[in-house]
Amino acid sequence: MSTTLLDVKLITLPKIEDLRGNLSFLEEEQHIPFRIKRTYWIYDVPGGQVRGGHAFKEQIEFIVALSGSFDVVVDDGKVKKIFSLNRSYYGLFIPAGLWRQMENFSTNSLGMVLSSTIFSEEDYIREYDEFLKHTGQ
Ligand code: TYD
Repeated sequence: MSTTLLDVKLITLPKIEDLRGNLSFLEEEQHIPFRIKRTYWIYDVPGGQVRGGHAFKEQIEFIVALSGSFDVVVDDGKVKKIFSLNRSYYGLFIPAGLWRQMENFSTNSLGMVLSSTIFSEEDYIREYDEFLKHTGQ
C-alpha cells in the first residue's frame, strides 16, 4: 500500500523555557523514527521562490523551520495538505513516496532538513507523472 497524507506527522518537540532564552532538541529514534544520515538547510530564499517540488523513493525526512516560517505542501497523488511551520519547536515528519514542496518563505527564514539517507540523485522523482505511476495511479 502506498504512503498517504495520514503518515505525515506534525511533531511538537520539547521546549525548555528559560528567561535566558528557549531551547529545543530532538533525538534520533526518539522524537523521530529514523537514524539521521544527513542534515541540510535552506536559507536566503528570495521572496516568492519555491523549493522542493519532487518526491523521494527512500528518503524519510524531518523538516524544521529553525527561524522564520514557510509552508510545506505535501501531496500523496490524491490529496494535498499544507503544513505551516512557524515555530522552532515544530517539525514535520514526511515518509518516503510523497510529493512535497516548500513555499511562502518569510524573510530570513532558515529551514533544516534531517534525512534518513545520504544524497543520491537516483532517489529523486522529479516528474509528477512518474510520481503518480510510483503511487500506483
Ligand atoms: P534539491 O534537492 O533539488 O533542492 P530543493 O528540493 O530544495 O529545491 O537540490 C538542489 C541541488 O543541490 C541539486 O543539484 C542537488 C544538490 N544537493 C546536494 O548536492 N546535496 C544535498 O544534500 C542536497 C539536498 C542537494
